[in-house]
Amino acid sequence: MSKIILTGDRPTGRLHVGHYVGSLRGRVELQNSGEYDKIFIMIADAQALTDNADNPEKVRQNIIEVALDYLSCGLDPARSTLFIQSQIQELAELSFYYMNLVTVSRLQRNPTVKAEIQMRNFETSIPVGFFTYPISQAADITAFQATTVPVGDDQLPMIEQCREIVRKFNAVYGDTLTEPEALVPKNEVCSRLPGTDGKAKMSKSLGNCIYLSDSADEVRTKIMSMFTDPNHLKITDPGSLEGNTVFIYLDAFCKEEHFGRYLPEYANLDELKGHYQRGGLGDVKVKKFLNNVMQEVLEPIRVRRSELEKQIPDIYEILKKGSETARETAAQTMAAVKAAMKINYFEDAALIAEQSSRYSEKQ
Ligand code: TRP
Repeated sequence: MSKIILTGDRPTGRLHVGHYVGSLRGRVELQNSGEYDKIFIMIADAQALTDNADNPEKVRQNIIEVALDYLSCGLDPARSTLFIQSQIQELAELSFYYMNLVTVSRLQRNPTVKAEIQMRNFETSIPVGFFTYPISQAADITAFQATTVPVGDDQLPMIEQCREIVRKFNAVYGDTLTEPEALVPKNEVCSRLPGTDGKAKMSKSLGNCIYLSDSADEVRTKIMSMFTDPNHLKITDPGSLEGNTVFIYLDAFCKEEHFGRYLPEYANLDELKGHYQRGGLGDVKVKKFLNNVMQEVLEPIRVRRSELEKQIPDIYEILKKGSETARETAAQTMAAVKAAMKINYFEDAALIAEQSSRYSEKQ
C-alpha cells in the first residue's frame, strides 16, 4: 500500500513556533525522508471560514502568510503538493455524503469541538458549518486516501472521528476509503508548546506567540520577558521547572550540540536543569541561552522568507498548480465513492440495461 500524507493549517494568522515544533518541523523531515509516495499539505481556508464567515478578508490575507511560512520552513513544492482547500470542490461533495454517517450526539462528544465551542463562547449560537467541521476534515483526509496525518495531539479526536467515518462508509458501501493514522511528535512538549506568558496555548489574541516571521529583535524581546518561576527571585534561590516556560521551550528546541556552542559550562539540559533547581543559576542566563538556540533555528527560516517575499506571484502559481494536482486525486476518490454509493447513474451501463429489461418484460 502506498504511504500518503495529508495535513494542513487554517489560514487565520501567521504560523508560530508552536506550529513549528508541533507539526511543521516533522513534516519537513517526513518529506525529506523519501519514505512517502505522496505528500499533500493543505491551507484549510474553508475550515477557517467555519468560524470566520463574516471575515473573509482575514482568511484571504493569511493564505500567502501560511504559504510563505511553509516554504521558508523547507516544504518543497517539487516533493509536496501545496494546495488551497476551497479550490477542491470534491471536498464539499464528500462532506455532504459523510454527514449521513455521523450523528449529532457523536459530534457533540468530540472533545476538540467541545473545547473550541467553549473557547469561542458560541454557547447556543454555533454555526452548523463549524459544528460539522470534523466531517469536512474527514473529507480532507480521505479524498487523498491519506494513510498518515501528522498533527498536534489536540487533533487526535478529529482523526479518530475520521477513522469511524471510514469504517462506517466501508461497512455500508464496500471497501473504498483508507483508514488514516495520526502521527504526533515524539517529544510530548512539542504537541502543546505554551505561550511565552506560560498560558496553556499560544494564541494571537493573547499576544503570547513567537512567530516564524518575527525579526531577531522581536524574538529576543519576547524570550527575555518570558514567564519563568515566579518564586525564583534571587539567583541563589532554588528554581522550579514546573510550568517554567523557558525550560519547556528548551525541551522543545535545544539539542546537546547547542551547549558546546553557547553554554559550554554545561554538558546537557539535565545538568542545566539540575543547577537551576539547586539554586545559583539566574533566569537571564537561561533566557540568553534559549535566545541563542532559537535564533539558530529561526535565522535560516527568516532568511528564506525574505527571499520568498520577493516572489509572491510565483507562490500563488505554486498554490494554483498544487490545487490542480490535488483535484485530480480528489476526483478519483470522488468517482470511487459515487460508484460505491450507487450514484454514478450515467456510468452504470448495467443499471440502464436492468431497468430497460424490467420494463420490456412488462410489455
Ligand atoms: N484542523 C486543523 C487545524 O486547525 C487544520 C486541518 C484541516 C487539518 N483539515 C485537516 C489537519 C486535515 C489535518 C488533516 O490546524
